[in-house]
Amino acid sequence: MRMVELIRRKREGLKLTSAEIKTMIQDYTQGHIPDYQMAAFMMSVFFRGLDKEETVALTQAMVESGEQIDWSAVPGIKVDKHSTGGVADTTTLVLAPLVAAAGIPVVKMAGRGLGHTGGTIDKLESIPGFRVQLSYEEMFRQVKEIGLAITSQTGNLVPADGKLYSLRDVTATVESIPLIASSVMSKKIAAGADAIVLDVKVGNGAFMPDLSSAKDLAQTMVDIGRGIGRKTVAVITNMDEPLGMMVGNALEVKEAISVLAGNGSKELKEVCFTLGSQMLLLAGVVKSAEEGYERLELLLTTGRGLTKLKEFIAAQGGDPAVVERPELLPQAKHQITITALSDGYIYNIETRMVGEAAMLLGAGRVTKTSPIDLAVGIELKKRKGDYLTKGEPLAIFHVNEKDNFEKAKEQFINAYTLSNKKPESQPLIYEIIK
Ligand code: URA
Repeated sequence: MRMVELIRRKREGLKLTSAEIKTMIQDYTQGHIPDYQMAAFMMSVFFRGLDKEETVALTQAMVESGEQIDWSAVPGIKVDKHSTGGVADTTTLVLAPLVAAAGIPVVKMAGRGLGHTGGTIDKLESIPGFRVQLSYEEMFRQVKEIGLAITSQTGNLVPADGKLYSLRDVTATVESIPLIASSVMSKKIAAGADAIVLDVKVGNGAFMPDLSSAKDLAQTMVDIGRGIGRKTVAVITNMDEPLGMMVGNALEVKEAISVLAGNGSKELKEVCFTLGSQMLLLAGVVKSAEEGYERLELLLTTGRGLTKLKEFIAAQGGDPAVVERPELLPQAKHQITITALSDGYIYNIETRMVGEAAMLLGAGRVTKTSPIDLAVGIELKKRKGDYLTKGEPLAIFHVNEKDNFEKAKEQFINAYTLSNKKPESQPLIYEIIK
C-alpha cells in the first residue's frame, strides 16, 4: 500500500476499503508512515469526510491499535457514559453512584480537564486521599465488590488516537465529525463497555456550537456503536449556559453531593436522570425511560445513591466523611462576591468565557501539564432568564491567588449580556438519538 495513493484518493473524494484503512492505521501506529503524510490524509478527510463504512473501519482499526479491556468476568451489562465536555458539567459524579446503586456495574476511565472544560479525574482528586490510578486487578475487584470504579486512563488503550489527536491538534484538523467520532468511540470501545450513552453538548460552551453539527456528531457516533456491535444512545443537551451552579473541582464535587442529597441544581439533575434512564434501559433493568427515571428518583430519595458515593470514595482510599461534611474538601482562602453592574434579565451567557474565567482563577489547565488549584472556582448565583438588579450577587469567586482575579472578573462579567427583554427559554434536552 502506498500512502500517497490513499491521500490522493481521499483528496479526490473517493472511498477507501476497510482493509486499506486498517493497514494505514497499523502502519502509522508502528511508525512506518510519517506524520507529514498522515497530516495530509487528515486534511483530505477534513474536507472530503468519510462515509459510514469508512468511519466504522477507522474506529475499529484504532481500537485494535492497542489493548482492549475484557470485562466478561464481571456479570451484567456494563454501560459507560461519555460527555463531549461542558462547563459546570458534573454528571459523572452524580450518575455513576446512582446507576451503580441500580445494580448496573459502572467502570469508567475518565480524563483530566483541558481548557475551559473540567475533567472527572481532577474533581475526584480534590477528595482527600482519593486514588485516581487503579490497576486492572483493582478495578475488577472493586467493580465486583461495590459495582463502581473510576480510574484515569490505564495501560495502552488506543495508542493510534494518542498520535492522531496530537497531530490533528497542530494541523487544524480537530473539527472534523468522523475524526472526532472515531476518536471518542474508539476509546469507549477499547475500554470494554457493552453499551454506551453519549452526552453530546451543544451551544456556546460546547465543542459543537450548533444543533445541526451536534446531531451529525451524535448520529455518527451512534452509527459507529451499531457498526461495531455496542448499543449506543446519544442525548443532545444544552450548553448555552453552565449546566450546574458550580465551576471548579472541589466545588463540583460539592454540587454532586448536594444533588445526590436531593438538593442542588435541577438542570444538572435533569440531565443526569435523562442520561441515567437511558443507561438503565440499555442495561435491560427497566422497560422504558420513564421507568428508569422513576427508579433513579427512588434511589436518590432513599439516599442509596449517596451511600454508593460514600462506598466508592472509601474503596478508592478517599475520605467518605466529605459526603456529610463537604467543608473537608479543599477550600479557597477568599470568597469574593461579584455583583451585577446594572439591572436587567440575563439575556445571554457566553459559557466558554465563564469556564475561562474559572481557568484564570486556577481551576483549569491551559496546557496538558499546567498545574491546577482544586479549591478555586466560581459559584453561580443566577441563571439565564433571571432578573438582576444592580448590586445583586451574580456569583461568588473562590480565590486563593489574587494575581489573575481582576482579569477573571472582567472575563466573567463580559460573559453576561443583560437586557430589558427576557430571553426565550431553550430546551435542556434537545433530542435522544438511538
Ligand atoms: N475529544 C476526543 O476524545 N477526540 C476528539 O477528536 C475531540 C474531542
